[in-house]
Amino acid sequence: MNVLVTGGAGYVGSHAVKLLAREGHDVWVYDNLVYGHRAAVPAGRLIEGDLLDRDKLEGLLREKKIEAVMHFAAYAYVGESVTDPAKYYGNNILGTLSLMEAMRAASVSKIVFSSTCATYGEPDSVPIRETQAQRPINPYGFTKLVIEHALADYTRAYGWGYAALRYFNAAGASADGDIGEDHDPETHLIPLVLDVALGRREMVTIFGDKLPTPDGTCIRDYIHVDDLATAHLAALNKLGQGTELKLNLGTGRGTSVKEVIEACRKVTGHPIPADIAGPRAGDPPALVADPSAALQALGWKAKFVEITPIVESAWKWHKAHPKGYDDRG
Ligand code: UFG
Repeated sequence: MNVLVTGGAGYVGSHAVKLLAREGHDVWVYDNLVYGHRAAVPAGRLIEGDLLDRDKLEGLLREKKIEAVMHFAAYAYVGESVTDPAKYYGNNILGTLSLMEAMRAASVSKIVFSSTCATYGEPDSVPIRETQAQRPINPYGFTKLVIEHALADYTRAYGWGYAALRYFNAAGASADGDIGEDHDPETHLIPLVLDVALGRREMVTIFGDKLPTPDGTCIRDYIHVDDLATAHLAALNKLGQGTELKLNLGTGRGTSVKEVIEACRKVTGHPIPADIAGPRAGDPPALVADPSAALQALGWKAKFVEITPIVESAWKWHKAHPKGYDDRG
């Protein structure tokens, strides 16, 4: 299939691109490289551009005879979305509507969309099922929810087919250690902890150790990026006119911050000093997926369930590329 991947130079997008290419699809990446990395994209497959450039997108969809879009491009810093909501409304909502209008003009009607567990906000209970109320508690989560609704409306009105995939905590790196996580600034737990093991940071700070969880630290559902990629491909293959898939992508297993740090100590052999701070604003104590709907709809489930192999794959990447893509020239 001819597939356009927006945000294909980013963390999750680049892993999907790699899988699509390996499976023989004709993949094109559209990315403005604000946060993405040129080196994460296969040679000759990157088109630099902004989502708001509707005409450029329409031209590209026509020229490459694109049949489906995977839409990863978005800003995804929860804290920044609170302090600079305009950036998030502008890119994540207006940018995506621009893409959707380009698709409509070029008669492309299939899309797999990166949504997030942040659309649930503070969940009523865990594990979280797709039927739970979506009440995001930050602008980032809200922008993703708006697009879920827009896709549902376009599907009903224009005969589209879409999948909104609600990721839990993306983690790990490609098995060959060739692509991986490289955010600037980095805010995610596993790369920050591994930076301590690499001697690039003194210690890691645990945000809260008196939360209502078994060891007092936040629980998250860490899902390997290659598992996310596999789910995207499975969803793409399901899309037809009127298809509407809204699915959690997680393992169903919760891991605490302390357990993540312990796994990193085991994998790296480094003592990884940790100190304790208060909880980070807007961090729910526990977010864990009920992944059974994805299994039923796509026949998909995570291959990586334990935290240790996920950390091992991340460590392989970070050890080989301590400065991320900067090390690759
Ligand atoms: N944490 C620490 N110390 C740190 C960094 C993180 O204790 O230095 C904790 C956080 O409090 C959280 C867990 O580690 O409990 C994971 O934090 P991340 O920042 O790695 O990930 P988040 O759970 O905050 O964010 C993820 C996605 C977002 C998504 C969000 C939904 O990255 O895109 O889940 O809540 F919006």
